[in-house]
Amino acid sequence: MVDKVTSEERLQAFCQRGCDFLGTRYSILGGAMSWVSERHLVSAISNAGGFGVLACGAMEPERLDEEIKATRALTKFPFGVNLITMHPKLEALIDVCLENNVSHIVLAGGLPREKVIKRIRDANVKVMVFAPTLALAKRLVRSGAQAIVIEGSEAGGHVGPVSLNVLAQEILPHLEDVPVFVAGGIGRGEAMLAYLEQGAAGVQLGTLFAASKESIAHENFKQSFLRANARDAVVTSQLDERFPVIPVRAIENDASKKFMKHQAQVIESYQDGKTSLKEAQLEIEHFWAGSLRKAVIEGDIENGSLMAGQSVGLVKELLSVEEIIGTLRDQALKAIEKKKHS
Ligand SMILES: Cc1cc2nc3c(=O)[nH]c(=O)nc-3n(C[C@H](O)[C@H](O)[C@H](O)COP(=O)(O)O)c2cc1C
Repeated sequence: MVDKVTSEERLQAFCQRGCDFLGTRYSILGGAMSWVSERHLVSAISNAGGFGVLACGAMEPERLDEEIKATRALTKFPFGVNLITMHPKLEALIDVCLENNVSHIVLAGGLPREKVIKRIRDANVKVMVFAPTLALAKRLVRSGAQAIVIEGSEAGGHVGPVSLNVLAQEILPHLEDVPVFVAGGIGRGEAMLAYLEQGAAGVQLGTLFAASKESIAHENFKQSFLRANARDAVVTSQLDERFPVIPVRAIENDASKKFMKHQAQVIESYQDGKTSLKEAQLEIEHFWAGSLRKAVIEGDIENGSLMAGQSVGLVKELLSVEEIIGTLRDQALKAIEKKKHS
């Protein structure tokens, strides 16, 4: 009994900085996922003691306003809003967050300008920013970012080239001024604990929450998560360097196979002089437009994009958000106990 309390205190000590920053019981973020991280999932994560993050994605300011208000009606706990920095109405989206007294904004999808970070900070809203390297993380902190998220290539959705295992070693020992949250491939409490021990302030998960009971993702989408192994969640391949492809990790399906053929056909058409370089690049880029919605909302798991991280292989049953967070915590506590007795 005494041991148990000590293990909990130990885990809490690792999480305290993250909990204080987020205003939560647990230092676990539900990473924003377009179409998936809406009012129900976000409020469920925050109600379970984690930190839910609304995915603004391509939403218009009016839609974001509605979604923030609807989320607030479902939880009295803090949650954040994830904004994509290249959204053409970024300033108006920030206005909406400020009008709604959002406590935390997460800036993703490209490096934000210093002016944007300062504006949010000056309004007393906490700014979290994704950083792909140590040098950029340091620059973002100098620009005013109050927390950094590092995401490894194991993650679902848009990914960088480096695994969290390596990013964590590159960044965590050298960035102590602000809390750093780690994302990508986390599916068990032992892994969560290992990153906390390395200096992370907390963890961010997407894949496990996408397959939770509270997630509004279509049943077909969730079932494909249950069937998939880690190796099924692959990064989109690029056939030709003249035609850049944004790397996205998703479960392989008909659409991913068709994308390879589509690239080959477009490139051939360009080489035959039937299409200009610009047109061909756009044609390749447009292939995936609307495809996440198709899979998540319509349940078209063959033609849609099944964005998922490698931790999809650890999804064995559909659990509630509370069960997911509770399991992570129990596993971390057991790992601490084990160490004490070894
Ligand atoms: C279906 C799906 C959609 C996602 N959409 C977004 C997004 O819109 N914005 C964003 O910053 N990250 C997005 N992500 C990344 C997550 O926020 C999170 O960082 C990532 O899932 C963590 O890695 P994991 O999947 O291994 O848990 C998405 C991930 C998934 C699985």
